[in-house]
Order: sequence, then C-alpha cells, then structure tokens
Amino acid sequence: MKGIILAGGRGTRLHPLTKATNKHLLPVGREPMLYHPIRQMVGADITDILVITSTEHMGDVVNCLGSGKELACSFTYKVQEEAGGIAHALALGEGFARGEPICVILGDNVFEYAITPYAQAFVRQAKGARVLLKEVGDPERYGVAALDEKHVIDIEEKPASPRSSFAVVGLYFYDGQVFDIIRGIKPSPRGELEITSVNNAYIERAELQYDICVGRWTDAGTFDSLLEANSILTESENRILPHG
Ligand code: G1P
Repeated sequence: MKGIILAGGRGTRLHPLTKATNKHLLPVGREPMLYHPIRQMVGADITDILVITSTEHMGDVVNCLGSGKELACSFTYKVQEEAGGIAHALALGEGFARGEPICVILGDNVFEYAITPYAQAFVRQAKGARVLLKEVGDPERYGVAALDEKHVIDIEEKPASPRSSFAVVGLYFYDGQVFDIIRGIKPSPRGELEITSVNNAYIERAELQYDICVGRWTDAGTFDSLLEANSILTESENRILPHG
C-alpha cells in the first residue's frame, strides 16, 4: 500500500501563525505537525509516501522533510496549484498510486494510537474504501456519518443538524477505483471537490467499511484543536501508542 499526505490549504483559521509558513509545519509537541502522519504511516509499513502541498509552501515542506531517509521512508512531492478541495488534491496522486491501494491522511490529523490495525483491516477487505469514525462533541465541524446497525449509510459534510455524533476523521483507505470516482463527483456548494462525496460514492457501491477510532484524536486546524494536538503529542513525547 502507498501513502498520500495532504498538506495544502491556507490555514486561515490559524492566522497569524500561518502567515509565514504552512500549518503542517507548526510545532506539535517536539516535532513539526507533518512528522506525525508520516510516523503513523511508517509504523504501518507504508513507506512510499506522496506529500501534496501548495506552491507557496512546497519549498518549506521539502526543506523540512528532505528525501525521507531520516524518517525511514521515501518521499515524492506534488504541488496543488489552486485550492480546490481535498478530493481535488487527492486526484493529483493518480500517477503516484498506479492503481495500488492507498492510505490517505490529512496532514493536520493527530491520533493517539497507531493506525496499524485499521490499515491491516483494509488489507483484509481487499476492495472498496475504509474510513475511521470518532465520537465528538462538535460534529458540525466535520464530515458526519449516519449509521444503521452495520454500515455507514450516508456522510454529510459540516451539517447544521448532524444525524449522529460520529465524525469521519482524516484517515481514508481507498482501492484503485478512487481516481475514477473523483472524476465523477461535482463541486459542493462551497466550490470544492469534497472527500465526503468520494466516500458517499463508495457507500452507493456498498463498498465502504469503517472502524471506530481508539483513543484520542483531533485535527489541528483551529487554536483549540491545535492545543489538543499539542497536548496528545506532548504527553507521549511524540510517540504513537501501540494497541494493548
Ligand atoms: C476535512 C473533511 C471532513 C473531515 C475533517 C477531519 O474537513 O472535509 O470531512 O471530518 O477534515 O479532519 P476540514 O478540516 O478540511 O474542514
């Protein structure tokens, strides 16, 4: 399986911290934020990793990460020239993925525990997509899953009236169909190609599975969530906990 880390966006909710640098290079615990998804992937044996970021920040990102030697992996880089949404950024990974299954992490997501069991479950699944859900107190900030006894039946992006408190977190596993699916989706009312539309397309095919996230999880796109990300990774000294 190959890895794709999405590290674009303007990070406007974190101004002025993100005026001069990319959100994903801000410190979390003792390391730049981007180290965390990389360590998660490497821990799950995913060492061929594409990093996608915007033109203005690519120089900083490459200066920070280099070839990957230091982190026991190998990096490929790709520039997202205009901000067109998460699925738009992911589409840039088609040539890199070459039809192989992929693990996608949004570069500002922090997981207390290793993602390895979810990656292993996806390998066993063989086809379709797999997402990770986490119960949160503020679901309206996220993609929110509506569930029946066994399945995710629908995902709504930032709903005003959420149908559950389960957020779809920024870790996704996709098979080789994902790029054709992205070509088939339409921009949302905010003009972006949403990752939620991609996941809903897998639901329509009855090919979306899920796990519930064990331990603490947060994104780091706001001051409050950046503080939480710092608290998780400061307590562990940036180590990722193994599942007991
Ligand atoms: C994105 C996704 C959303 C997901 C979240 C997780 O939102 O669109 O579905 O729940 O990441 O971090 P954003 O943080 O870009 O607003």
